[in-house]
Formats: sequence, C-alpha cells, structure tokens
Amino acid sequence: MTAAFDVAAARAATPGCAAGVYLDNAGAALMTRRVLDAQVEHLELEGRIGGYAAARERHAEVAAVYESLGGVVGAPAASIALVENATAAWHQAFGSIPLQRGDAVITCEAEYGANYVSLLKARDERGIEILVAPPDGSGQVDVEALAGLVDGRTRLIAVSHVPTNGGLVNPAEGIGAVARRTGVPFLLDAAQSVGQIDLDVGRLGCDFLVGTGRKFLRGPRGTGFLYASPRVLAETVPPAVDHFGARWVAPDRYEMRPDARRYENWEFNHAAVLGLGAAVDEALAIGIPVVEQRVTALAASLRERLAAAGLETFDLGERRCGIVTTRVPGREAADVQEALAGQGITVGVTTPGSTLLDAGRRGLGDLLRLSVHVFTTDDDLDAAVEALGRS
Ligand SMILES: Cc1ncc(COP(=O)(O)O)c(C=O)c1O
Repeated sequence: MTAAFDVAAARAATPGCAAGVYLDNAGAALMTRRVLDAQVEHLELEGRIGGYAAARERHAEVAAVYESLGGVVGAPAASIALVENATAAWHQAFGSIPLQRGDAVITCEAEYGANYVSLLKARDERGIEILVAPPDGSGQVDVEALAGLVDGRTRLIAVSHVPTNGGLVNPAEGIGAVARRTGVPFLLDAAQSVGQIDLDVGRLGCDFLVGTGRKFLRGPRGTGFLYASPRVLAETVPPAVDHFGARWVAPDRYEMRPDARRYENWEFNHAAVLGLGAAVDEALAIGIPVVEQRVTALAASLRERLAAAGLETFDLGERRCGIVTTRVPGREAADVQEALAGQGITVGVTTPGSTLLDAGRRGLGDLLRLSVHVFTTDDDLDAAVEALGRS
C-alpha cells in the first residue's frame, strides 16, 4: 500500500506504540525514544551542573537545531527563530507588519482560530479590514479569487496551509505566486503541514512560515519556530524584542540582530529544543517526502475504510493529507473519543471555534479527528474503524 518503509523499526523506536492505537498525531504526535532521551539527558545534566553550565556544554547541539529546521523548510539556519509554539511565531510575524486604518489583510476560510482572533483584534484596535478568500468548488482556497482581492490596500496575505479540522492542503504555492507577483508579504501557517508535507520556502514563495514541534515533526510540546525571509529581515522589525533579539549597545541605543533570532527571547527551554532537534533529525533521516507519501496513503486508506463503514468524512480540497475528520451520527464526538480511549484507541476532537468560518459555512459541530503517522499500521486503521462502528 505504501512506499517501502520499515514500520516495525519505527514502532520499536516509539514507546507509545506499545500502549495502543495512536491516531492523534495532528494534536501531539508520539515522540521516539531518542527524542525523549535527548530531553531527559539534558534535564539530568541541568540537575547535575546547573542550567547555565548545561547550556554551555550543549551549545553546539542547540546551534545545530537551526540547521536541522532549515533543512525541513529549505532555508538557511540564519532565517530560523525558535519560539514556544506556532501561535507565538505567528504573532511575531504578524506584529512585524505595520498596519493602520484602511489597510487590508487577506486570509482564508479555513484559517486557524488563534490567527483569526488576532486579525479581529487588529480590526478592532487598528481599523484594518479582513478579507476572506473564498474556497473553490473543492473547498481549497480559490487562488484566482484571492488574487482578485489584492489591491493597493493589501498589506499581508495570511493563510493556513493545512487547517486544524481536516485533510485539506491549501494551494500555498499558488498563493505564494500571487504574493510574489503583487509584492504583498505572505505569512504561511504550516503548523499542521510541517513534518508531514515536504516544504520548501523558495517553492512556497512565503515571507514568513510558522511551525510547531509537537505535531507531525514529533517533537516535544512547547516548541515552535518561525522562518523569516531575507526580505522581511531587511524591511521589518519584530513587535517584541529583548536584549538578545537586539543588542543594547549604548544607554540610548540598540542594534537589531541581523538574523531571524531577533524574534526570540533570551530564555528558552533547552531540553525541549534539544528534543525538537532530535525529532527533526529523525524526520530528515527518514526523508520528509517518504513521510508524506506514507502518511498520505495511510489517510487515503482510512477514508476508504470509513466510507465502507458508512461513516462520512469532512476533508476538503483537491489534495488531502494525513488528517481525517468524521463523526458517528447521534453521538457527541467527545463521548466517542472517550469510548475509544477506553479501548486503547487515541483520537482527537476538533471543535468549530478552531475554524469558525469553515465550520459555520458547512454547519459542522464537533468532529472526531484521526491523524496518522509513519508508525501507523493497517491494523490500527481497522481497529479504529471497527471501534467507531461499534460506538
Ligand atoms: C492550523 C493551525 N495553526 C496553528 C496552530 C497553533 O499551533 P500551536 O498550538 O503550536 O500554537 C494549530 C494548532 O492546532 C493549527 O491547527
């Protein structure tokens, strides 16, 4: 069914696989033993010699995390900032764009709740207009319609690549082409795509890309990153900087760092960052295209199984990724989630408030979210679909 891949080895390297069927990788994917060890070892070191000395000992390993993340998105290390999560990265990117009354920001119907709330706040506080690019017949962003919204007032295009509530993969490259043609900065939220889809910022044509560690990259919670293009580094400044992002060089003067680490704070969780680095190195060793092929095929197979069991799926778009949403008629999603958990099957639940525009238009309530990863097996899919059928 899927490309040659050593599933047994991937499962053996993942302690959580022994505990049951895990289908919440879009929530927080299972970490490998190596990712767990990287964190625990660093915490032990901090416990023995103190956090500052431990940071000095692991300086090179922390520096290597930027190289590794750059490898995931096709960017140099100097264009990567490490932050606590994708939302923090999004705020740093969004806040870099000067906005005033009458300016417009274009987004999409599947935009993530946290981002949209910030857009609404900017509308209320600064008088910007939010323009929502409509979906095409398949449900993905209609690139031509989006292009038609761009005019002299447009300051930013901010779009979620993969939404939180399904398998949709928005046509980011097409949107990037519009951004490049019109000169409008493009902020791509890749929180749900990084790690499961092969990304390249050059191909995507984005100025900012935000990602999170705990989802398809299989890193620890509380990790995320921001890619910033040379153009935004030259033309914009972060909304919040400390004396690490900008050197305090004289009582009345600071100098912004030239690289993307200007978006960071001095203080961060070193153990989590080292765990993220281990996760990213493992993903690169497998090859993200290999992950993408396997995850896509497994999710397609899951959709077929659900359809065969008479269960509806709610994923939009021409191209679908490793996230599948469904529901059991007459049952609350949270109740089904709990019932499955009782059988050792972990699935997620997505609620309308995370993608309110799309959920509202389609009249979606809470949905069960099943998300696969490389260690998922056909037996896992069968077990989950059977359990849903019994619910
Ligand atoms: C599309 C999308 N963007 C952003 C985020 C936020 O990521 P984080 O929780 O790391 O801030 C999520 C989280 O589910 C998401 O689904």
